[in-house]
Amino acid sequence: MSNLTSAYEELADAYHATVDPDGAGLDDQTFDALVGDVRGQRVAAIACGQGRDARRLADLGAEVVGIDASESLLAHARGLEQNVRRGIEYIHGDAQDLREIRDAEFDGVVCYMALMDIPELEPTVRSVARILKPGGWFAASIVHPCYKTPADGELIDHVDGSTRRITGRYFEEGPYDSVTRWAILPRVAYHRMLSTYLNTLVAAGLNVVRMVEPVGERPVWQAVPGLLYFRCERI
Ligand SMILES: C[S@@+](CC[C@H](N)C(=O)[O-])C[C@H]1O[C@@H](n2cnc3c(N)ncnc32)[C@H](O)[C@@H]1O
Repeated sequence: MSNLTSAYEELADAYHATVDPDGAGLDDQTFDALVGDVRGQRVAAIACGQGRDARRLADLGAEVVGIDASESLLAHARGLEQNVRRGIEYIHGDAQDLREIRDAEFDGVVCYMALMDIPELEPTVRSVARILKPGGWFAASIVHPCYKTPADGELIDHVDGSTRRITGRYFEEGPYDSVTRWAILPRVAYHRMLSTYLNTLVAAGLNVVRMVEPVGERPVWQAVPGLLYFRCERI
């Protein structure tokens, strides 16, 4: 039996209770636009958690395999699959090697809001490139590395009363302890510079073809982007 796990293991029930507990699937228009028409495609959702991204991909017409390091989150995903069968296969595996997956098996790979939770970026994107067919695509979303950094906060602009994002320690890559992280997430996350993301993707043969920085709901995220989405194509 594998001893692979993630920091989400002990948070799994709280995460599931907050994130798509009824199993309707991810509701994110930016995600839908980024993945595009996936009908008939074989798509892997790596670090899928309790499977909200996998369910959305299946509802969009893809044949989906979800992979995650947390057995407890996968148990929730499989339970929802029992309720409404979408034909999703869930695998307990490490996104940093994806050893359960053969080379060039997928048309597309998704990693939704998870690269910041995975310790090593380079083996992860190398594994993504390995399991993609030539010309396949990779779509991911992350917290914006320029506006969510190991030292960040908010201040009030005394001129117009608006809230401003302030950031620091941008150049300190690796794990950091964030007291402001959402309580259903582990406090430790992994920061990388924007250039590290881009250069690591390109070095793995994943060329970035599109980036999206959506306007968020909170006023502070209407001034600067809290999230970054990107789509790559495997050369
Ligand atoms: C913020 S959650 C996102 C889950 C899902 N994509 C969603 O949007 O709900 C981050 C996920 O990364 C997973 N994770 C962390 N390290 C991992 C690894 N090395 N391999 C696979 N999954 C990992 C966690 O178990 C967790 O499910």
